[in-house]
Amino acid sequence: MSDPAGPAAKKLFIKTYGCQMNVYDSQRMAEAMGAEGYVLTEDQAEADMVLLNTCHIREKAAEKLYSDLGRLKPLKAARPDLKIGVAGCVAQAEGAEIIRRMPLVDLVVGPQTYHRLPAMLRGEAPAILTDFPEEDKFDHLPERRATRRAPAAFLTVQEGCDKFCAFCVVPYTRGAEVSRPVARIVHEARDLVARGVREITLLGQNVNGWHGIGEDGREWGFGRLIRALGDIEGLDRIRYTTSHPNDMADDLIAAHRDVPQLMPYLHLPVQSGSDRILKAMNRRHTADQYLRLIDRIREARPDMMLTSDFIVGFPGETDQDHDATLRLIEQVGFGTAFSFKYSPRPGTPAYDRPEVESAVADARLQELQALLTRQQKATQQAMVGRTLRVLFEKSGRMTGQMVGKSDYLHSVFVDAPEARIGDLAKVRILETAANSLRGELSA
Ligand code: 5AD
Ligand code: SF4
Repeated sequence: MSDPAGPAAKKLFIKTYGCQMNVYDSQRMAEAMGAEGYVLTEDQAEADMVLLNTCHIREKAAEKLYSDLGRLKPLKAARPDLKIGVAGCVAQAEGAEIIRRMPLVDLVVGPQTYHRLPAMLRGEAPAILTDFPEEDKFDHLPERRATRRAPAAFLTVQEGCDKFCAFCVVPYTRGAEVSRPVARIVHEARDLVARGVREITLLGQNVNGWHGIGEDGREWGFGRLIRALGDIEGLDRIRYTTSHPNDMADDLIAAHRDVPQLMPYLHLPVQSGSDRILKAMNRRHTADQYLRLIDRIREARPDMMLTSDFIVGFPGETDQDHDATLRLIEQVGFGTAFSFKYSPRPGTPAYDRPEVESAVADARLQELQALLTRQQKATQQAMVGRTLRVLFEKSGRMTGQMVGKSDYLHSVFVDAPEARIGDLAKVRILETAANSLRGELSA
């Protein structure tokens, strides 16, 4: 196959750490660099530019950047013209410190300034850019090129967070909440659908806090936006992540009842089941309020699959607090969940608080994960024998095999030699594996 950018095209290697927002941003940066004549490569060794799109949420995530940069030293020594850029939340948080610690880095670019990346490379903008400009970076990124897209895509509708949970760096690295305007979101969604997308996951650090002025000139909340996207012909599935319980507005809950394209899957982090710890975390709700919210959501959409995030070993957490979290998990019944050992992050309110002993936190994490794994297994087991809709996203390793996602976001492997990527098929679930399901096409 001939190279669309010509034989002289420069090669860009991007490594993405962390959340889906970074996955989306990496795609948009690839497009911005595409306009400069760069094509993506999966082989770091042949790259003219290596871009690391980083995550700062926990210490381990941030440290990964420095070990990866260390591994790039021989490559840079052999090819001094290789450009190395650090993007994302570590770039935002540490800025010039990154180049002081790792002089092989050429560029440091924070999440709000990706549109300046080509100018930075040309030497027309500073090599370190981590400001929060007034303009919307998406307005300045080039339109996605009119190529076919995979059937499931991300679309960022909101960035930043004003919640200031005591453990979290996001309000500092991603800044204050900014919602993208309705017209741009609808335009982007239509464009994605025109290029073969059937499922869109709306992204935001606090996505259900999205608000804007609608097509009717009125203030819209997130539920109203979803209803508008539900009117797009050919868009079969809508998902969103990540949400805060306090922004689950009535209209959003009602949208789960009314909009058939809105999938019965909700990631709603609670972090802890202890009121004392929730208060210390500045979550601004109690365990009981969360449970009552779940009841209302399940009233609107009885088959809703719920997932969550948990932090164990938050400063001050006692055995009783931990037990309260286990009880909450038992009461809700999660389809799956992410759980983390608390990691003190510089600049956050909880940073200096006395820590729970590490071994105690480890033991709690194990206990909590064992419970969540049991719930995940039970959820998957309950799918066996059911007929689910699966959107085929890629072919599997076996010949004739397709892999896709069910409405509940489980990966499903199906023997379907005639099927095509992008088909939305009815699949009868035959069995469950550790993290996926297997099924057969159903009439
Ligand atoms: N330590 C551990 N986990 C954290 N998270 C955010 N900050 C921290 C931290 N300092 C987790 C929360 C959040 C998820 C994205 O990461 O559970 O919901
Ligand atoms: Fe961080 Fe989420 Fe809390 Fe915002 S709501 S501060 S992103 S954990």
